[in-house]
Amino acid sequence: MSHHITEGKDLFYAYPDGHQAVNGISFRIHHGESVGIIGANGAGKSTLLMLLTGILMPANGEVIIGEVRLNKDNMAMIRQRLGMVFQNPDDQLFMTTVHDDVAFGPRNLKIDEPQVEQRVVSALEQVGILHLKDRAPFHLSAGEKRAAAIASVLSLMPDILILDEPTSSLDPKSRRRLMKILGGFEHTKIITSHDLDMVLDICQRVIVMKDGQAIADGPAKGVLTNKVLMEEAGLEMPLSLQGCPVCGGEKT
Ligand SMILES: Nc1ncnc2c1ncn2[C@@H]1O[C@H](COP(=O)(O)OP(=O)(O)OP(=O)(O)O)[C@@H](O)[C@H]1O
Ligand SMILES: [Mg+2]
Repeated sequence: MSHHITEGKDLFYAYPDGHQAVNGISFRIHHGESVGIIGANGAGKSTLLMLLTGILMPANGEVIIGEVRLNKDNMAMIRQRLGMVFQNPDDQLFMTTVHDDVAFGPRNLKIDEPQVEQRVVSALEQVGILHLKDRAPFHLSAGEKRAAAIASVLSLMPDILILDEPTSSLDPKSRRRLMKILGGFEHTKIITSHDLDMVLDICQRVIVMKDGQAIADGPAKGVLTNKVLMEEAGLEMPLSLQGCPVCGGEKT
């Protein structure tokens, strides 16, 4: 398990209405890498993550996790290794309490109940919402829901953590806390985000998507400071790398 890779080989996917959302992407992510996937709205980032987790199956190409090619028969086994936080927390939270949502994954893995309890408390503490454990997820604020969705994946202790816009709706303190958790997560991380300062902080490598294709794949700082590339992708450099708006000088 320790040397698994996450690989997409020549992936294509069109939605039932014919929209070609992923249009021939290949990449190989090694164990322990932290990879940001960025791109304008509609570039295909969420669709790509859903292909990696088997929620959608590619029309062409293959997804390989470890040594195994993802297919319908091994999907349940492979999903035990992957934890995905969805872009919309409402797609993730469906139990009547936050506690039960966070316990759902470990219980499904048939883990002993005392250990499930430990994992639930630890995951909720990590994201700072232990006090919400008995609340109904659908009554939480957007940021609270996001934190609960992240906890529901942390409790699975996955080998590969896949997060779709994890900082969206989080207040600055919660965002910082999440960045600290992600910084301390030693396994593979694949993160899509419009929060490019977070991507710069957390990811060593960045893949830039445009119209369902990868137009760049390289070291984070090199990609995120490439103004021409960022403009081509419909993006802007992270705020921390932009010049001072008053004097025009470079930030240090
Ligand atoms: N169920 C669907 N049916 C048809 N088209 C879809 C469907 N879901 C997404 N799309 C289209 O596929 C394209 C890629 O969508 P996707 O959600 O992967 O983009 P994204 O890069 O994650 O965008 P965002 O930054 O807004 O989250 C978009 O043009 C979108 O309109
Ligand atoms: Mg998306």
